[in-house]
Amino acid sequence: MTDLAIETEGLVKVFGTNRAVDGVDLRVPAGTVYGVLGPNGAGKTTVVKMLATLLRPDGGRAGVFGKDVVEDADAVRGRVSLTGQYASVDEDLTGTENLVLLARLLGHSRPAARERSAQLLAAFGLEEAADRQIKNYSGGMRRRIDIAASILNTPDLLFLDEPTTGLDPRSRNQVWDIVRAVVAQGTTVLLTTQYLDEADRLASRIAVIDHGKVIAEGTKGELKASVGSGSVHVRLRDPGRRHEAERVLRGALRAAVQLDPDPVALTATVDGHGTDLGAAEQAARALAELARAGITVDSFALGQPSLDEVFLALTDGAPVGEKDTVEGKGPVDGKGPAGGTRPADGKSTADGKGPAA
Ligand SMILES: Nc1ncnc2c1ncn2[C@@H]1O[C@H](COP(=O)(O)OP(=O)(O)O)[C@@H](O)[C@H]1O
Ligand SMILES: [Mg+2]
Repeated sequence: MTDLAIETEGLVKVFGTNRAVDGVDLRVPAGTVYGVLGPNGAGKTTVVKMLATLLRPDGGRAGVFGKDVVEDADAVRGRVSLTGQYASVDEDLTGTENLVLLARLLGHSRPAARERSAQLLAAFGLEEAADRQIKNYSGGMRRRIDIAASILNTPDLLFLDEPTTGLDPRSRNQVWDIVRAVVAQGTTVLLTTQYLDEADRLASRIAVIDHGKVIAEGTKGELKASVGSGSVHVRLRDPGRRHEAERVLRGALRAAVQLDPDPVALTATVDGHGTDLGAAEQAARALAELARAGITVDSFALGQPSLDEVFLALTDGAPVGEKDTVEGKGPVDGKGPAGGTRPADGKSTADGKGPAA
């Protein structure tokens, strides 16, 4: 118990008739980054709010460093810090003013508050922006100052709720560096994200949640092995051969094949258990089979499974291609390799929050 930063059992939160969190069990080892991966509305923020004592659970129990979040809320509050999905800093104040103000509220003396602020602004690459009002910050700078504000006092447990949603790749990298630095100082981080690659880069263990339930949990290796190690995107010369190509790929890969909105494109899961080499070999074999069937491939790419594909693999074992032919639309429609909306690419700008926001 002592080596667990978070332990929940059957945690439930109900909003009206919506079981936003529906029996969540989590065990988060101290000193690590733990990823909670799930799409919009999965229940991530609600879990975080209960753990941070901002929302009262309707069922089950949750402990933070062995203290119950309801019975011992004060003790929990003393050890955690929360960075929200939306920055909590004051728009009209400068970076320095915000941090100094918050540090003063946390009980630091004026000189100590000034020193800590300067230190964090430097560490987060915000020195030049220190005297600029927050409203003139870029999205990435805002996210960084928000994280800085949440670690003015080094918390034992830091909640980062979608810290990189909507950020450009460079800003995401900066936030990732910050997360690594925070953990290196001994803080446990609970990171929620919609991006598989983010969880992959930062987290030691990941819980995948959907509709308020944990649908998979494990180390990155375990999770990937369970969902396939990659996906192959294929573009054909002739759209008329697509159904044939679908059959060939499904036979060669023994995995889900989906018809993309682009009439010449298909995406298939590579169900390799283990290394990327295995996935690449499997993909190569599948391409060879297409060639043998006389189907010309104009381009192909082998990538990490997208979050959509992970969910698909976890929630529905049936080949997607079949579902697509019946319904015309699968849960993964609208995301071709060039679509630019794939969550795993970090290009998604979807921030469409539910009424909870
Ligand atoms: N305060 C609230 N009142 C009503 N419904 C809420 C509230 N907060 C969240 N919800 C609903 O609970 C579900 C989970 O929301 P949330 O935890 O914000 O998901 P996520 O953070 O994974 O996007 C959604 O259906 C959302 O609309
Ligand atoms: Mg959220």
